[in-house]
Amino acid sequence: MFNNEFFEKNSIFLLIGTLIVISIGGIVEIAPLFFLESTIEKVEGMRPYTPLELVGRNIYIREGCYNCHSQMIRPLRDEVERYGHYSLAAESMYDHPFQWGSKRTGPDLARVGGKYSDEWHRDHMRDPRSVVPGSIMPAYPFLAQTEVEPTMIADHLRANRAVGVPYTDDMIQNAVADLMAQSNPDADTAGLLKRYPKAIVRDFDGNPKRITELDAVIAYMQMLGTLVDFSQYNAEEFQR
Ligand code: HEC
Repeated sequence: MFNNEFFEKNSIFLLIGTLIVISIGGIVEIAPLFFLESTIEKVEGMRPYTPLELVGRNIYIREGCYNCHSQMIRPLRDEVERYGHYSLAAESMYDHPFQWGSKRTGPDLARVGGKYSDEWHRDHMRDPRSVVPGSIMPAYPFLAQTEVEPTMIADHLRANRAVGVPYTDDMIQNAVADLMAQSNPDADTAGLLKRYPKAIVRDFDGNPKRITELDAVIAYMQMLGTLVDFSQYNAEEFQR
């Protein structure tokens, strides 16, 4: 009965039949995703942002840096040669929202950490033309003048935890202390480093008396792309 002729002559059944076939295809593709805990491979070294880095990331978003900068190195030869190992999914697993971007007025920043000194970043943020004469990047001199208000940081950690970033109670309780400690080389940073391995502790903005938005932005820039140890991975693998 259900032969070609039947479906060709009864367009309603053709429609229903088409829908049934397409739904089976759809379910087969989508259903497994509901039973997987994560589609992101775990990668050693990834940890949630320190409170200071998170403040820097918030400022990065507030100032719209993503309008000119991407944070995703594509697995193409020219990208890998210019920026380093292509980005892994795990490297943005704690980003809410992620900063991959598709607009590159400026260079990709996914691995900018450690590329320049803090002094370079200070000059560059205050006046990009002072270090890169042809730069068209806007200046952000006010970051060095604006102090970070530490009281709200625990709430930022809680908000990130609500969307799946594994901040512990310990991290939330110590958020203010960790925020203050990371830009103060004289502080007791044992707790901070235990909670956030590889956290860089320095007075980033060159002004030890205050924790400014510039401290936070530079702390964020200097950690980007530095958490995963790529000497364990074979970057050549892809290029061959
Ligand atoms: C209007 C576009 C634009 C915006 C907005 C912008 N940048 Fe840039 N950025 C550039 C350009 C162009 C360059 C390359 C020239 C230079 O180094 O100044 C650059 C370079 C950089 C570099 C050096 C990258 C490298 O590998 O050499 C950093 C770091 C950087 N920007 C950070 C930021 C941050 C942080 C913000 C937001 C506070 C920001 N940028 C906003 C255009 C922009």
